Amino acid sequence: MVNIQSLLRENIKNLRPYRSARDEFKGEAEIYIDANENPFDHPYSRYPDPLQWKLKEKIALFKNIDPKYIFLGNGSDEPIDIVIRAFCNPGVDDIIAPNPSYGMYQVSADINDVKLIQVPLRADFTLDFDLMLATAGPQTKVAFLCSPNNPSGNVLPVEEMKNFIRKFNGLVVIDEAYIDFCEQDSMKNYIEEFPNLVVIQTFSKAWGSASIRIGMAFANTEIISIFNKIKAPYNISNPAQEEAMKMLDQMDILQKEIKMIIAERKRMALELTRFKGVLEIYPSEANFLLVKVDDANKLYHFLTSQGIIVRNRHGQLHCNNCLRITVGTPTENDIFFIKLNEYYHEKDFVFG
Ligand SMILES: Cc1ncc(COP(=O)(O)O)c(C=O)c1O
Repeated sequence: MVNIQSLLRENIKNLRPYRSARDEFKGEAEIYIDANENPFDHPYSRYPDPLQWKLKEKIALFKNIDPKYIFLGNGSDEPIDIVIRAFCNPGVDDIIAPNPSYGMYQVSADINDVKLIQVPLRADFTLDFDLMLATAGPQTKVAFLCSPNNPSGNVLPVEEMKNFIRKFNGLVVIDEAYIDFCEQDSMKNYIEEFPNLVVIQTFSKAWGSASIRIGMAFANTEIISIFNKIKAPYNISNPAQEEAMKMLDQMDILQKEIKMIIAERKRMALELTRFKGVLEIYPSEANFLLVKVDDANKLYHFLTSQGIIVRNRHGQLHCNNCLRITVGTPTENDIFFIKLNEYYHEKDFVFG
């Protein structure tokens, strides 16, 4: 079984974290003259709860998980960065992730002077877990898996992920930013079974709150306390915490929207097959489709000229001439198809 403490960087093990005024006193008081705030009445004159307990309890209820297993970050990009900072010595250790996948694993690794070892996905975007295990070296401290994967949209099989977590001698971070759009259950159900598992989710995708910047990490208490030790003292603002709680009260609306997005994803996949220039639509369990076309750069520029922005993934491994198209509202998707129709009937379109 993986020993978390032995994986941890020495300086983090020995770190005495900053103790804020709000860490030292818990409970309700008459007068707060401990944190050098402006004492007059403004909506946000006071520092927020550093550990966001009210919000965590609400998430815990919805996710059916103990709040002590939750870490909240400034977007899920924060726990992605924190896990690298906690476990990887700059210039010495490395991390491993499939390619292509979410770009921030590379950026966070680069910022921390940590090497990212890339494991090529197969051409159909499935992952060879044995290859990933064989590619990991003695300094590989963290493995990232993304399910459903960005940009391909496919999920990784649960049993293969469990097998990998069991065998990998380091932390396994499973990024589930798009989990609400797929049928497969979250891997957070296994955090008690695997001490080296971290599951990341976000308020930014299905939960309609990308601009409040809240990401969630689920893991056992040993890992959560390491993350809390490293994070900025007040990493989630009060307005963001309040807004997140409001969103959790609107889950019935969000669930309806998720259903609609999934239905639209299916409709778009079907409609796209009608165009001769659309060569492949990869099966997706996220809120986007990866689509191979005859000339991605040309179509991308045409759509941009029409005020429609998609993500051009041409140049990424196995993604030549691929565009990643987010599922919009039914009206937005209709407009997209009108424009696509125009484009494929005027193929000699010249951009620039
Ligand atoms: C796979 C994946 N993980 C994480 C994120 C980042 O999410 P957040 O807004 O929570 O930082 C994204 C955003 O595109 C993503 O695609």
